[in-house]
Amino acid sequence: MNTALRLDQVSSGYGAAIVLRDISLEVGMDESIAIMGKNGMGKSTLLKTIMGYLPKKSGSVFLLGENISSWKPYRIARLGVGYAAQEHSIFADLSVYDNLSLGLKNLLYFKGRFDEILRLFPVFEDRLAQQAGTLSGGEQKMLLVARTLILHPKVIILDEITEGLQPSVIERLAAALVYERKRSGTSMLIIEQNIPFALKVADRYLIMKQGELIDRGNTGDPGAAASVLRHFQL
Ligand SMILES: Nc1ncnc2c1ncn2[C@@H]1O[C@H](COP(=O)(O)OP(=O)(O)O)[C@@H](O)[C@H]1O
Ligand SMILES: [Mg+2]
Repeated sequence: MNTALRLDQVSSGYGAAIVLRDISLEVGMDESIAIMGKNGMGKSTLLKTIMGYLPKKSGSVFLLGENISSWKPYRIARLGVGYAAQEHSIFADLSVYDNLSLGLKNLLYFKGRFDEILRLFPVFEDRLAQQAGTLSGGEQKMLLVARTLILHPKVIILDEITEGLQPSVIERLAAALVYERKRSGTSMLIIEQNIPFALKVADRYLIMKQGELIDRGNTGDPGAAASVLRHFQL
């Protein structure tokens, strides 16, 4: 299997504080991986490190065949990564339409893609003119994911997008990601605390505890849900 993303013994943190210790992992082309674990374990730090927002103390990161270890975030994104950080949100003052089309340089070229995204998230079809800040919390999260998908990234990195959402919205998001992957072969790295969502969207899971990956498995294995849940209860 070709590799979309690979980390070799990456350590990083904030100032002198080490948060991640020797993280190695691989996401194959067309593979979806979920990293799970309780709050404060270093999951978001890992994504910020991959995306170039935090300097690495050691180790290397490879993305789509390039060694991106010392690249700046904009250059990493340009290589074909869609990243929705945990604290990201939509542009509240702009319309739904403007939020979706902001990153599209050539609207004519992207017309087909625009329509496709609307089919994935039909809730926006009649609401393109609505100011995004007036959408419900769940709709705003869907818009954020739609905006990440619309650029057709080769790799999608999502940080706890189901946080605080109601089950129907979570199901919609899972269906959209599963469909997108089937259609485009997009590789995915998702951070999650919602176990059913992660098991639906990912092929494999990794458990992070105090900056280390301490367990892993296939989401299709019998007992996967119970194995993951155990780590949240410990
Ligand atoms: N900007 C920051 N400066 C210093 N420490 C931070 C910062 N952001 C997060 N941390 C610390 O790093 C650790 C991991 O945080 P984080 O990666 O956000 O965990 P998770 O995403 O798993 O909840 C925590 O101890 C947190 O307090
Ligand atoms: Mg986090």
